[in-house]
Amino acid sequence: MQVYKVGGAVRDRLLGLPVTDVDRVVVGATTEEMLAKGFRPVGADFPVFLHPKTGEEYALARTERKSGRGYGGFTFYASPEVTLEEDLIRRDLTINAMAEDDQLNLTDPYHGQRDLEARILRHVSPAFAEDPLRVLRVARFAARYAGLGFTVADETMDLMRQLSESGELQALTAERSWKEISRALMEDHPQVFIQVLRDCGALKELMPEVDALFGVPQPETHHPEIDTGLHTLSVLEQSALHKQPLTVRWACLLHDLGKGLTPEEEWPRHIAHEHTGLKLIKAVNERFKVPKDCQELALLVGQYHTHGHRALELKASTLLELLQSFDIYRRPQRFEEFISACEMDARGRKGLEQRSYPQADYLRGAAKAAREVAVQPLLEQGFKGPELGEALKRERLKALKAYKEAATA
Ligand code: CTP
Repeated sequence: MQVYKVGGAVRDRLLGLPVTDVDRVVVGATTEEMLAKGFRPVGADFPVFLHPKTGEEYALARTERKSGRGYGGFTFYASPEVTLEEDLIRRDLTINAMAEDDQLNLTDPYHGQRDLEARILRHVSPAFAEDPLRVLRVARFAARYAGLGFTVADETMDLMRQLSESGELQALTAERSWKEISRALMEDHPQVFIQVLRDCGALKELMPEVDALFGVPQPETHHPEIDTGLHTLSVLEQSALHKQPLTVRWACLLHDLGKGLTPEEEWPRHIAHEHTGLKLIKAVNERFKVPKDCQELALLVGQYHTHGHRALELKASTLLELLQSFDIYRRPQRFEEFISACEMDARGRKGLEQRSYPQADYLRGAAKAAREVAVQPLLEQGFKGPELGEALKRERLKALKAYKEAATA
C-alpha cells in the first residue's frame, strides 16, 4: 500500500502556511489490511481510519457517486484498485486535489500547483456538483485566501450559480451549513464569503434576508456608502480587522435585517428597523440552528444597536432599561460584545473606518455605575422580595443620573 498526504496539508505547505490538520489517503489497501495493522475505523459511512499511534486520519482511496438529494445520497466505492488520480478527481478544488508522498514528490494531475500560483480557486471536475456544500466551501476559501489575491474561476462561479439555482442548497443540513458559515466568519475576510455567495446566487437561497439588503439605500449623512448590503459587508470587515469573536461577527451580519423590510416610499429612512428585523434574525438563527450565545447577541444587537450609537443622549431611565435588558450584572461579557458590535457598525461606513467611538467608554462607565450600587444597605433597611428589586432599580437610576451628569458636564 502507498500512503499520501492530501488536501489542505499539501495546499497550505505549498502556500508556505502552517499546516494543522493532515489527511492521508491510502492506495492499494483493503479495510481488512488496515484493521490488521491496528488502525481504528471511524464513522459508519466512510472508509476512514485513525492511526493507532498518531490518531491522524487515513482514508482508503475511493470514488463517489451521488445517488440522491442531499448529503445522505452518496454511495462509495473503495477498493485496492482505485487509483490516486481517481480519488483526487472527485475532490472540490484543484488546489485541494494534490497529493504528496514521504519524499514530498507531488502528484498533481489537475494542475493545482498552477492554480495556486495563479491564485485561482477552480473546481476539479463536474463531480464538484455532487456536494452542494462545496458552494459554501469555495466562498469560505475565497474569504480565507483573499489577502493572498485568490479569486474564484469564472467557470467555477458558473457551476456554483447552477447549483444555487437548482435548489440543491436547500437540502443541506443546518449543521453542515453552520459549520461552514461559522468558519468563514472567523476568516480574515469574512465579507468576501458573503460577497461570493451573493455573486453566485447562493446568498438568496441561504439567507434571503441578508441578500435583500443590497440595493436598499440609507441616508448619506450617516452612511456615505448608502447601500445597506455594502454597509453590512463593511461592518463584517471591521469585525475581522478588530479580531472580534464569532458572536460579534454573527451579530454584525444580521444587525440591520429590518432595513430590508422598509417600504420603498420610506427610503432612505428606516424607522423602527430595530424591531421589524427581530423576526428575521430569529428565522436565520433557527434555520442554521445557531449556537445560543450567537443567537442571543444577534437579537440584542439587532434591537439595541441604535441605542448604543445614541448612548450619550439617552435618558438615565432608558440607559437603565438597556443595562437591565442585557442583564449586565450576571452577563458582563455579553454587554462588552454588544458594545463591540455597535462600534463595528459605526466604523463600517465608507470613510469613517477610523472614527472614534466615545459611546463605548460611556456605556462601560454606565454599566460600572449601575453595578456599583450595593445591595447590602438596602437589605439592612429591611427591603426584600419585589420591593428590594424596586429599591435597587431606584438606586441604580440615581447612580446613572449622577454618572450622566458628571460624564456629559
Ligand atoms: N473535500 C471535498 N469536498 C468536501 C469536503 C472535503 O472535496 N465537501 C476534500 C478536499 O480535497 C479537501 C479534503 O477533502 O482538501 C479535506 O477536507 P477538509 O479537511 O474539510 O478541508 P481542508 O482542505 O483540509 O481545509 P481546511 O484547512 O479548511 O480544513
